[in-house]
Amino acid sequence: MKRIIVTGGMGYIGSHTVVDLIENNFEVIIIDDLSRSEEGVLQGIKKITGVLPKLYKVNLCDKEGLSKVFETEQNIDGVIHFAAFKYVDESVKLPLLYYKNNISGLLNLLEIVKQHDIKNFVFSSSCSVYGNIDTLPVSENTKLNPSQSPYASTKVVGEMILEEAKVEIPSKFISLRYFNPVGAHMSGHIGESPAVIPNNLVPRITGTAHGKFEKLMVFGYNLPTRDGSCIRDYIHVVDLAEAHTAALKFLSNQENTNTHEIINIGSGNGVTVLELINAFEKTTGKTVNKELTEPREGDVIAVYSDNSKANRLLQWQPKKTIEDMMLSAWNWEIKEDK
Ligand code: WQD
Repeated sequence: MKRIIVTGGMGYIGSHTVVDLIENNFEVIIIDDLSRSEEGVLQGIKKITGVLPKLYKVNLCDKEGLSKVFETEQNIDGVIHFAAFKYVDESVKLPLLYYKNNISGLLNLLEIVKQHDIKNFVFSSSCSVYGNIDTLPVSENTKLNPSQSPYASTKVVGEMILEEAKVEIPSKFISLRYFNPVGAHMSGHIGESPAVIPNNLVPRITGTAHGKFEKLMVFGYNLPTRDGSCIRDYIHVVDLAEAHTAALKFLSNQENTNTHEIINIGSGNGVTVLELINAFEKTTGKTVNKELTEPREGDVIAVYSDNSKANRLLQWQPKKTIEDMMLSAWNWEIKEDK
């Protein structure tokens, strides 16, 4: 059985990917410092898969601790690297924290990947590397505009490091540029960590419907879009998880090393904020108390992906609908014992 190390495997996308890897007969070892997640996620993974993955509580900036894990866990076939801070607003206030954690962690990991000759590496990147979009849909060849946040910059730099370091590391790299991950595993055993009050749209929608927030502020309502609100490319987190397994399988079948592919992972559809709210209300029967307000600083008006490269290279296709995303997000929101 192929052995995969997943850094940040206790996080939102990481835990869903761990589930999909186990269901695809991979043996998974998790490295996570639990700074942004809870140990209970392990039980959620076990409830779904029947498997309790090994967890090493290590921060990637602790090079010695990280090396010890790879000395203990031999014959690793691949690494999926999620462990990074991901809050745009936090990164604007604390750029040094984001650079230190996200970039130093990656550099430590790559030195170890080289030392242990690990062949397959998947990097968690983001559509935020595109900056302000002027042509839609966005493909991997779309020119990158200036980053809109230090968070996005750490993803741009992360991809540049892989692109330039690939000459000295005989591995095969893929950077997956996620669009807007939403929803949760339908079992209700794993989902977005409830520990952090989210600024993202979907947790705000479900939290407002659940009475956690008095109302949902809709940032922008008379913008140049079909209904005046912003357009985004929402992707179900389970579809996103499956894309990581597909990326690993693709890499395992590649002969050439010292390579780096960049791939968009999105639904390929643009959905407005008001359409998403409407889909949530229709699917759940709940009403969302909302107020139409001015656009949020730094927001792009519209972005959605051209995901044809993922279809072509990874034979990957998103399967979940907007209704699946809303229902699973609501199911997670109302789950008592999460
Ligand atoms: C979506 C839309 C808001 C909250 C983020 C990260 C990005 C990537 C994907 C990691 C926007 C509107 C939101 C609210 C609203 N993450 N909105 N009211 O900003 O598109 O992207 O997630 O890779 O890096 O920035 O996501 O969910 O915050 O916003 O109207 O209370 O919902 O204006 O148009 P975003 P989001």
